[in-house]
Amino acid sequence: MATVSIQKLAKYYKDIQAIENISLDIQDKEFLTILGPSGCGKTTLLRLIAGLEVPSNGDILIDGNSVLEVPIRERDIAMVFQRYSLYNHMTVYDNLAFPLKMRKVSEQDTKRRVKNAAELLGLDKLLDRKPGKLSGGEQQRVALGRAIVREPKVFLMDEPLTFLDPKLRTQMRVEIKTLQRRLGVTTIYVTHDQSEAMIMSDRIALLKNGVLQQVGTPDEIYEKPSNTFVAGFLGSPAINLLDCSYVEKGGKTFLDLEFFKLDITDQKDIMNKKRNGSELILGIRPEDISLAHEKSADTIESEVYVIEPLGSESNIIVKLPTYKAFKFGMHDVVNVKVNAGMNVKIGDKVRLKFNKHNIHIFKKSGEIIL
Ligand SMILES: Nc1ncnc2c1ncn2[C@@H]1O[C@H](COP(=O)(O)OP(=O)(O)OP(=O)(O)O)[C@@H](O)[C@H]1O
Ligand SMILES: [Mg+2]
Repeated sequence: MATVSIQKLAKYYKDIQAIENISLDIQDKEFLTILGPSGCGKTTLLRLIAGLEVPSNGDILIDGNSVLEVPIRERDIAMVFQRYSLYNHMTVYDNLAFPLKMRKVSEQDTKRRVKNAAELLGLDKLLDRKPGKLSGGEQQRVALGRAIVREPKVFLMDEPLTFLDPKLRTQMRVEIKTLQRRLGVTTIYVTHDQSEAMIMSDRIALLKNGVLQQVGTPDEIYEKPSNTFVAGFLGSPAINLLDCSYVEKGGKTFLDLEFFKLDITDQKDIMNKKRNGSELILGIRPEDISLAHEKSADTIESEVYVIEPLGSESNIIVKLPTYKAFKFGMHDVVNVKVNAGMNVKIGDKVRLKFNKHNIHIFKKSGEIIL
């Protein structure tokens, strides 16, 4: 049993603020992923928890007790790094046994633990080999095995799949997740890959510039992003973020997108309470725009610009009529997700329909309104 509680944690390197006032509670047996772009502070946060860095402020509690004064070795935490740093001159068995030797675990106990880990990870037939004669995936399993034999309270993993090829990566994601479930060890996993985070995590904590943006289940974060950064980070192809103005006219309320006015009269009360100013950002995911068959007042005339096949679906990049002022990404286009096999070609005139029930509306500053 292990809970990890991060309380008002901060880390500065001279004038660089790597981690800024982060509070986060990780539950027993939970798989929590720290997600964010390069340089946002993910590794720093893990190193602070492991005891490899000293915080500038704040506290870290494991099972309710502060560990700041506890030396690294006694924190009962095992870390798996991006580079597995296996000992190349030692066999797989010795690599697995090494952390136990360092902790003066008896030989009998070591044998038992190594055997268990090797069985769990399918390494039992490779115990006499040296790392140089293993595939990337096997080496990664040895690195995981070294963490497992310690039977720690908490696993910390820093982008452990980065150097694997895409196919192996997909396979190892499932293996790590399954293993974590079976062992029931509280795990904090770092990645900058949003799809990896979505697939593996019980909850995701999204960081930007050392600041925690949002914590929640993958579904919560995807469906209710707290700001435009979060909305843009999760989902592929990315959400469409369109500049717009709030307009009230003839008893109705609209988001004016220059080329189209989206009727949001039924959401008027919330908008009046929460927005400040009339300049807003409309967020709509590619799967919430569809191609309409017939011309009607609530569809937008546009043209197919690029088609990106994604397997069972395709992303169509569609050029909008007269729109220039995009806040993010490319100009005057939107991503639309359609089923593969839909008969469209580059240059086709199409009509877009926005699913009004699944839109997100943000303040100009990026903060969510609705
Ligand atoms: N020892 C250090 N001295 C000075 N600055 C550091 C040190 N370690 C990290 N930083 C800075 O702190 C910030 C966060 O770095 P960190 O390595 O935690 O990012 P990250 O999210 O793990 O990035 P990546 O995805 O590239 O691994 C960066 O601006 C980095 O340059
Ligand atoms: Mg890192």
